Amino acid sequence: MTAHEPLPPMAPIGLLVELTHRCPLGCPYCSNPLALERPAAELDGETWKRVFSEAAALGALHVHLSGGEPTARRDIVELTGAASRSGLYTNLITSGIGVGEKLTNELADAGLDHAQLSFQGADKVTNDRLGHYPGSWEKKRAFAAHVVKAGLPLTINAVIHRANLDQVGAFIELAVELGARRLEVAHTQYYGWALANRAALMPPRKQVEESIALVEAARARLKGELVIDMVIPDYYARYPKPCAGGWGRIAINVSPAGKALPCHAAETIPGLEFWNVRDHSLADIWRSNPAFRAFRGTGWMREPCRSCDRREIDWGGCRCQALALAGDARNADPACMKSADHARIVATAMAESESGEEALRWRSYKQKVEA
Ligand code: SF4
Ligand code: FES
Repeated sequence: MTAHEPLPPMAPIGLLVELTHRCPLGCPYCSNPLALERPAAELDGETWKRVFSEAAALGALHVHLSGGEPTARRDIVELTGAASRSGLYTNLITSGIGVGEKLTNELADAGLDHAQLSFQGADKVTNDRLGHYPGSWEKKRAFAAHVVKAGLPLTINAVIHRANLDQVGAFIELAVELGARRLEVAHTQYYGWALANRAALMPPRKQVEESIALVEAARARLKGELVIDMVIPDYYARYPKPCAGGWGRIAINVSPAGKALPCHAAETIPGLEFWNVRDHSLADIWRSNPAFRAFRGTGWMREPCRSCDRREIDWGGCRCQALALAGDARNADPACMKSADHARIVATAMAESESGEEALRWRSYKQKVEA
């Protein structure tokens, strides 16, 4: 087989906008960059509204309003309304902190289609510790009730790692109790803050396998009541996931300061210049920004990806992980068993999972490490 040239640009399916990096929580696995964007650098509302209409005109179907905590933006209702009027399906990805009944109803009235609420633990002690925010448990539960009362579909998002892996069953019960339609059991992906905290977060392989079996049993038991999606920790997988759906294929992320990125960690790859939505239209960025074209398609691939029959299934996995763990973004993602680096990263993961390391670096604008 011959490797393909970059695909002719199709429409992106989705837009993920990090409206702000401000967040009341301090989750140690946050996918935001370690260098968080300051509030003064954030795009203004008018620019975000233009970005939403450009995304819709380009063919995008949905927008994830994310952060940080997106409701930290005072204009969140206005922005939600603008995204909805542009014709995009709107999903709010939130911690639920600071979102009372009044704001929830205003968001619903503005056209919000769906809310995705994070829980850090399935009980108060674990949740409040891992979110680094005392009292967040009650606020999250209250927000879930507001969402259900407003008639919006609710997804609970649970990021799983060594400190809460024993709670997968309890997360499932929590999602049912709160009236969620969907639960995302997402094993931590090791970028950003999670990579910095990997030794304290990496779960043992055996327990991961048990949690997968538990989810599969619950899926059968709760069919028609709760959809459970699961993201498996890719260090223990045989093949990588198609990160971001493939570089520059279906998704655009926009940072709080307006940088358009093919994935949330793209800025870790040196030598790429990411255009800003302040200076370029989204269509221009999607079609012409060399950074979006750099790993689009399969033409950039080396062996073993170049001749692999999965190359248009997982698109070589994650470029950022290939750089971080295998030294070059053009290498196969070492989560792949065909990668020359696979055995080494699995051995590292297994050693870290038994390291007993517990010190966590909480996500913060300040640099601090606390146990
Ligand atoms: Fe995917 Fe490359 Fe591994 Fe094939 S060799 S499965 S394309 S990462
Ligand atoms: Fe960048 Fe996976 S996070 S390609």
